[in-house]
Amino acid sequence: MKAVAQAQPNIALIKYWGKRDHEANLPAVSSFSLTLDSLRTTMSVEFCDRPGRDTLRVNDAPAPGMLDRVSACLDLVVGSKRAAAEVISEVNFPIGAGLASSSSAFAALVVAAAASSRTTIDTQTLARLAGACSGSAARSLYGGIVELTAGEEQISVQPLLQSQPWPLEVVVAVTEKGKKPVGSGEAMVRGEKTSPFYSSWLARQDEDLEVARAAVLRQDFNSLAEVAEHNCLKMHSVMWSSKPPIVYWNSATLSCLEAIRTLQDQGHAVFFTMDAGPQVKAICLPDSVDVVMAALRQTPGVQDLMHSKLGAGARLLRST
Ligand code: PMV
Repeated sequence: MKAVAQAQPNIALIKYWGKRDHEANLPAVSSFSLTLDSLRTTMSVEFCDRPGRDTLRVNDAPAPGMLDRVSACLDLVVGSKRAAAEVISEVNFPIGAGLASSSSAFAALVVAAAASSRTTIDTQTLARLAGACSGSAARSLYGGIVELTAGEEQISVQPLLQSQPWPLEVVVAVTEKGKKPVGSGEAMVRGEKTSPFYSSWLARQDEDLEVARAAVLRQDFNSLAEVAEHNCLKMHSVMWSSKPPIVYWNSATLSCLEAIRTLQDQGHAVFFTMDAGPQVKAICLPDSVDVVMAALRQTPGVQDLMHSKLGAGARLLRST
């Protein structure tokens, strides 16, 4: 009973920051994201006939630091009275560095866990299970442009524009490959408790979502750019105004923002977003990709560039 699933990370344009219910890991706000294609996580799950602890290897090395979250996720999908699992993950991009690695990890894990335990679970329920492990992971169950609605009791997730896709592309400027200093879970709690901006962040989120949804449905790049940059900077304002402050940016992050502003002034269809890390994600239309990559490649402090189109949701690759 072994299953292998693949998922890609998603990049939020209207961010999830803050929790309504910590135990159930329910987000305080709805959010909106792009599922990528070329950054990938595969998860292989095999339940063994032996008692004892689960094992986890990531990119060929034991990963004990992540095992508890993985085990908790397997318990949620399969139940806690289960056999021990051997979990093997392969990831083709830096982990824990603000590149949404937990979104693809838990999306792939729930799909692989359900298949290897021969449990049939619909995609919406899998999204809820993944979201209970990492809020953003719920969105990676679906491809393309995805909206997550945060209800009182549970989330619901739906893809937008499936029949007439919008060919948005994402260039990621990696400005630091190491792990981030504060995880997003801890950072959110700190923001909720200490940032004077947290309540206004919550109060204006639905407005931003409405603008973003309308922009996507009209395929209006400039309107999406404006609301996404605004929403991202508001989330980072909550982080910066937390006590003690959380500043994920480095000087290269700012240099990338400056480079993107220059490109915008020259008329290129590009905008930025950043998550819980110093990497800058430049969202662009296909015609602007080459010029965006060239500009970011030359930006001081950029260590690596990744490029992706939009991709599909989490899926099973094989089960035996
Ligand atoms: O899913 P988590 O707990 O890693 O939180 C993700 C938070 C952000 O990436 C900063 C925003 C988002 O909506 O993905």
